Amino acid sequence: MTVMKGMKGLILAGGLGSRLRPFSHSMPKQLIPIANRPVLVHVIESLRDLGVTDIGVIVAPRSGEIEEALGDGAQFGVRLSYIPQAQPRGLAHCVMLARDFLGDDDFVMYLGDNMLTDGVRDIAEDFRTHRPAAQIVVHKVVDPSEFGVAEVDAEGRVLRLVEKPREPAGNLAVIGVYFFTAAVHAAVDAITPSARGELEITDALQWLVEHGADVRARTYEGFWRDTGRVEDVLECNSELLKGLQGAVHGEVDADSELIGAVVVEAGARIVRSRVVGPVIVGAGSVVEDCSIGPCTTIGPRCRLRSSEMEHTIVLEAASVTGVGTVRGSVIGRQATVTSAVAPGWHRLLVGDHASVEVAA
Ligand code: G1P
Repeated sequence: MTVMKGMKGLILAGGLGSRLRPFSHSMPKQLIPIANRPVLVHVIESLRDLGVTDIGVIVAPRSGEIEEALGDGAQFGVRLSYIPQAQPRGLAHCVMLARDFLGDDDFVMYLGDNMLTDGVRDIAEDFRTHRPAAQIVVHKVVDPSEFGVAEVDAEGRVLRLVEKPREPAGNLAVIGVYFFTAAVHAAVDAITPSARGELEITDALQWLVEHGADVRARTYEGFWRDTGRVEDVLECNSELLKGLQGAVHGEVDADSELIGAVVVEAGARIVRSRVVGPVIVGAGSVVEDCSIGPCTTIGPRCRLRSSEMEHTIVLEAASVTGVGTVRGSVIGRQATVTSAVAPGWHRLLVGDHASVEVAA
């Protein structure tokens, strides 16, 4: 595990998550659970797998919840230093804020909402071996205009980078893992805010290219999602669940049936239900007279009764009662979903920025 000895990590978790409303109204988007663990925990483990254990985390002012969830990092075998960012002023601004923490060390910057489920070990080793000024990770996408776009030559040298171009040159999107030497600090100091008012890391990289620095790109072929939108969170959840190993730590009664990979965490109870994996039922949750799965994760202390559900994420302490065929849904913490009192009518108490689709 000493592949990246000496290299630091910088996780950016200060974003507002406006595309992940309503959930991001009440929790930092980086804590949304994927396979029942916050995205940020997956990110930390991914860095630890590279041997990176000294990690700075850029957080927004209301970061109490992130610090509560991650602590000093000891439970994950890393050491976390929190660096507050008062306003989301861009990814390059985060590098500026972390200057003291980073010193002149090489570092890997990881966007706290990005999931690269196949890992970037080879790409990291490549950086370690060749040590270009910077090395980005690119991924072929259908619509690159939503991302930073890289033009790369046959040897993997970056020729040009543009942030969210209207007419992209090529289909290589810059995704959320960047490797830097201390050369990046001069670049972030030199650039000015973009049209969206942010100091873009893409512009800092382009500055390096224009000043003759060696900036390399490596293609990541595996599964990648920026979990900024609910659809991506759900897809990511299904993808991670593919590797699930079933295990029953709670209770399953004789009238229930578990098919495929099902995890029943400690203190959870499955009663008169059919569960088709991959499914995780969180600690202390009760599933009664239900049909659940596949690709569903139920957080801790939830209550599910007389309902049917698949491809869904239920967060901590939510309850669902008497609701048939819930699909592709995310149900927030302590939310309550029940069947209507008057048949044929929907009664909706829907919070700001929530989204509901009902059967026609
Ligand atoms: C940021 C970067 C962009 C990159 C993307 C990857 O975009 O600016 O270059 O392609 O992350 O997720 P943002 O999420 O800030 O719009």
